[in-house]
Formats: sequence, C-alpha cells, structure tokens
Amino acid sequence: MRFGYDPQREILHGISFTVPAGRTLAIVGPSGAGKSTIARILFRFYDIQSGSVTIDGQDIAAVTQQSLRAAIGIVPQDMVLFNDTIGYNIAYGREGASQAEIEAAARAAQIHDFILGMPQGYDTRVGERGLKLSGGEKQRVAIARTLLKDPPVLVLDEATSALDSRTETEIQTVLRDISRKRTTLVVAHRLSTVVDADEIIVLDQGRIVERGAHADLVRADGLYATMWARQATERDAPVAEGEDGADREPAAPLL
Ligand SMILES: Nc1ncnc2c1ncn2[C@@H]1O[C@H](COP(=O)(O)OP(=O)(O)O)[C@@H](O)[C@H]1O
Ligand SMILES: [Mg+2]
Repeated sequence: MRFGYDPQREILHGISFTVPAGRTLAIVGPSGAGKSTIARILFRFYDIQSGSVTIDGQDIAAVTQQSLRAAIGIVPQDMVLFNDTIGYNIAYGREGASQAEIEAAARAAQIHDFILGMPQGYDTRVGERGLKLSGGEKQRVAIARTLLKDPPVLVLDEATSALDSRTETEIQTVLRDISRKRTTLVVAHRLSTVVDADEIIVLDQGRIVERGAHADLVRADGLYATMWARQATERDAPVAEGEDGADREPAAPLL
C-alpha cells in the first residue's frame, strides 16, 4: 500500500502487513515515520493511492464508512472531544449505553473518580474540543469511549502517551486485557508496552525497516535494538512527568 496526503509527497512507500484475527501487531519507529497515518488509513480518513487494505477479507474501500467505523475502535494520539458533557463524550462510544455501562467504562479507564470529583460530575462540560481537560484526562475519556464501544478491531495510537508512567502502567493493563480478545494494532512510543506483541513492525520514513518479535529484533541489533537500549537508560533514570519525549502532534479529528 502506498499513500501520501499530497500526491506530490508520498509518505508510505509500499507498506504491507497482516494482523491475524485476535492477534496484536505493534508499529514502532521515530516520530514522523508514518505510524499515525496508517491508523488514519484504517479508519478511512484518507484513501490510499495504490494497493489495498482489507479487514476480515473485505476491502475497506468497498464497505460503508458506517460499518467500517462500527468495527474499529480507535484511541487516537490526540483526542478531540465534543463540546458537550464528559458523560456524552464517553457515551458516544455506543448508542443506547446505560449510565451504569458508561460508569463501568469510566472506571476501567480510571477516570470515574476524577469525574465524580467535579461539581457537576458526568454532566460537566468539557469545553471547546475538550480544552478544559488535560491531555491525560482526554486520553482516558477516549479509552473509556472505546471500552464502551467494545469493537472487534482495536487501534491504539500512543494511547497512553499523555499519561504519567504510573497511570500508564495501570491503563496498559486494562488495554492489554481488552486487546487479548481482539485484533489489535498498537502504535507505541514506549517499547516496553509492546514487548509481548505477536509481531512488531519498525517503521522509518514510510518504510518497514525491520519486523519480528521483540526478542528477534533485539537480537538483530538494528534500529529497534538501538531504540530499546536508549529507552532502557530512560527507564533507569525516569524523566519528569510530561517530559518523556513522546511525540505530540497537531490534533487530528480521529473520532
Ligand atoms: N494531515 C497531514 N497532511 C500532510 N502531511 C501530513 C499530515 N499528517 C501527517 N503528515 C506527514 O506525514 C508524515 C508521517 O506522519 P505521522 O503518520 O503522523 O507520523 P508518526 O505517527 O509516525 O509520528 C510526517 O512527515 C507528517 O508531516
Ligand atoms: Mg503518530
């Protein structure tokens, strides 16, 4: 599959991979490599220039956007919320969800207590694009929404990058749990979160430069091994919250 946002500037130069049903595929690589672009293509925010993308044997270009988006749950890197209540923003994950289901999802995403701590609880308005919430809070709302949606295909794009490392560990446990049962594509900045993926793809400048399981990639002593070694030093000397180097990019309206 090949793709460029602008036909004059190709971003993905011939990417090919398969995620077997129920498995987890991780995409890692430097900022700007094209990881989020792949997630956006899956959700059909953009159409590719050549090649094809199929989900469960069906070309995504041939199915309705509605059925495609019903099948996939995305926790994007930068969540844009509706200018409505926090409850509404979670409930958007599944039409007709009960308050109890909404709260269960919020609890699993570790945002329920925070919500109850606000004067208006679930009726608190989040502001334009959710600007009254921090990045981590927005990310948790996105996770709660996706937990509520409970989709067969899960796409996590640096889903925990805006969280401090303790919360990240807690949410990772939740995400790992829900991804066990379903087909998952995870884009990760912190490699420690993908060590148990069935396959890891290392993307660099729009090309797959390495692929395999964690142990194989470490042994191969290439880009992945270099990134792994660098992050090992960071793990030994943790940096201050919010300064972990996770790449932030302008908001893309993913849901
Ligand atoms: N909406 C867009 N329009 C044009 N170029 C874009 C857009 N989004 C991303 N790009 C470019 O595509 C490349 C890959 O971006 P992205 O997929 O976001 O990288 P990653 O997620 O790996 O950091 C970058 O060079 C980026 O500048
Ligand atoms: Mg990205």
